[in-house]
Amino acid sequence: MKKYCPGLCMLMLAGIALLTGCGEKKAEKKVLLMATEPTFPPYEFYEKGKVIGIDADIVREIAAKLGYRVEIIDMKFDSVILAVKNGKCDIGASGITVTEERKKQIDFSLPYAVEGQVVVVPKDSKLAKIESLKEDDVRLGVQRETTGDAFVTKSLHEPIRFDSVNLVLAALHTGDVDAVICDLGPAKRYIATHPELTILEKPLTQEEYAFVFSKDNEELRKRFDAELLKLKQSGKLQQIIDRYQNSPSK
Ligand code: ARG
Repeated sequence: MKKYCPGLCMLMLAGIALLTGCGEKKAEKKVLLMATEPTFPPYEFYEKGKVIGIDADIVREIAAKLGYRVEIIDMKFDSVILAVKNGKCDIGASGITVTEERKKQIDFSLPYAVEGQVVVVPKDSKLAKIESLKEDDVRLGVQRETTGDAFVTKSLHEPIRFDSVNLVLAALHTGDVDAVICDLGPAKRYIATHPELTILEKPLTQEEYAFVFSKDNEELRKRFDAELLKLKQSGKLQQIIDRYQNSPSK
């Protein structure tokens, strides 16, 4: 009688592995739902069907540290804070400016970027000074529910509102608006490929961006902030920002 049969042994080992679950897939990672309006380079935008940018990269980096896989939920900007507030998404990452008004609805992370509202006009525009924007017949374009929208409505006059910064900047070309008020980063990015446009004077405001969490999710915000602080201190945050600021194609 044969004492040793390698084939049978292999079969038995495979059977044991199956029974004990050795061959099982690793447990699925937890999902972190990120709400964003991704037509806002360099912070969030599509490239080859994937949302990338400063915000997306920071969130992916921190989520990985916390054991999450990020799923991006693309929506209009005026829905982002609401989606987080109502618990439909875990984090809002959309170049969101910290404001006292917003703090009543949601909690902010530590700030991670400094930006401001600027005025974009065609180079041949008669509007050369911020003062001239106050005239009632000057059509001012903004993205709906942004800090640019709030500033123009309060300090200048009723603007024409669009769903995305791309659309409002495109309206400058079609002549549907005379000037656009939007965040400096996306404005700079846009005029780099549209040299017929320019940015007026200095920014109208100084603002800080932060990520948004539900007031009911303090634990996640605190764990996120601890990692964000580490990213800042290690210089990794600046590296992510530079990756996009120094590369005009991204
Ligand atoms: N920073 C401005 C705000 O918080 C505009 C942000 C727009 N973001 C976007 N992804 N479209 O109101």
